[in-house]
Amino acid sequence: MVLPHAFADAAARAERLAGRTSLGVGGTPRWLFEPEDEAACVEAVLLCRANDVPLLVLGGGCNLLVEDGAIEAAVIATRRLRGFAIHEDRVEVGAGQGFPDLVRRSIELGIPGLPGCPGIPGSVGGVVAMNAGGRFGCVADGLLAVRGVDRAGERFQRTIEPGDLGYRSSPFRGQLVTGATFRRDPAWTPERGAALFREAMDWKRSSQPLSARSAGCMFKNPGSGASAGQLIETAELKGLRIGAAMVSTQHANFIVNLGGASASDVQALVARVQAGVRRHHGVELELEVETWRAGGA
Ligand code: EPU
Repeated sequence: MVLPHAFADAAARAERLAGRTSLGVGGTPRWLFEPEDEAACVEAVLLCRANDVPLLVLGGGCNLLVEDGAIEAAVIATRRLRGFAIHEDRVEVGAGQGFPDLVRRSIELGIPGLPGCPGIPGSVGGVVAMNAGGRFGCVADGLLAVRGVDRAGERFQRTIEPGDLGYRSSPFRGQLVTGATFRRDPAWTPERGAALFREAMDWKRSSQPLSARSAGCMFKNPGSGASAGQLIETAELKGLRIGAAMVSTQHANFIVNLGGASASDVQALVARVQAGVRRHHGVELELEVETWRAGGA
């Protein structure tokens, strides 16, 4: 396959994704694009499309399990899509901005829901695509509109309607999100924001291994009944270890990288946990994190 020169730059930039994911595992993509603006995003998408190259979008890399080995795809990383514009009634943020920073600023800015999201890592684009959040608030609570580039290379701007975003889901999963607009609530006070932030942070610190390398919760909660964490704990799988991957002793739905784990360690542990929960409870746990397969998307 003869590819245009832009691919040579993208091939030279490619590096192991272990260094760009919170779990700290994963191989190297064939091509890595790092657009600085929307026009460069359009260009990269059109290039991939014209040359039949599969495309993957990398936000903060926090809800992602990348397999070891070569990833036969082009990765578009959004971390250079910056920008932060504060208006009276809204805030416009580039997809590459860090979500924890937006959460901190939301206390003063009065963005509904976001002060209840401390301890959630990742980029603004990533948290929008998966509607990240928890018991104290979620991205959907304050989201007004999302900008991006679709797979045909067309720019889009979508206003959020009620019901567009659900439990860890949005219409933007897998899409190239370039920016998001959040609502400011004029009735909000920084005191209220700070109190919510503190309460959520205290709870988070006591229940989740925040400083460990992980991809957050590995498995979806199976719907009604016990949570994935409860099922794993009562199947006595906390602390189970394969290589340098371990089921967290703090929250059983986290797999932590103790240092130098490979994706195969993590995947072997995932399979052991699924088998243990199946045996003890007859429940099939499904992965909540996205997996990028080696050899293909
Ligand atoms: N529990 C256990 N053992 C454990 C972990 C939890 O018994 O090892 C129990 C808890 O005591 C609680 C119940 O399970 O009674 C639910 O646990 P928790 O409140 O921690 O919530 P979760 O359902 O395990 C979900 C999200 C988290 C989010 C928290 C808080 C999913 C898969 N997980 O966890 O999201 O932070 O609620 O709102 O929906 C993530 O998506 O990466 C993530 C961490």
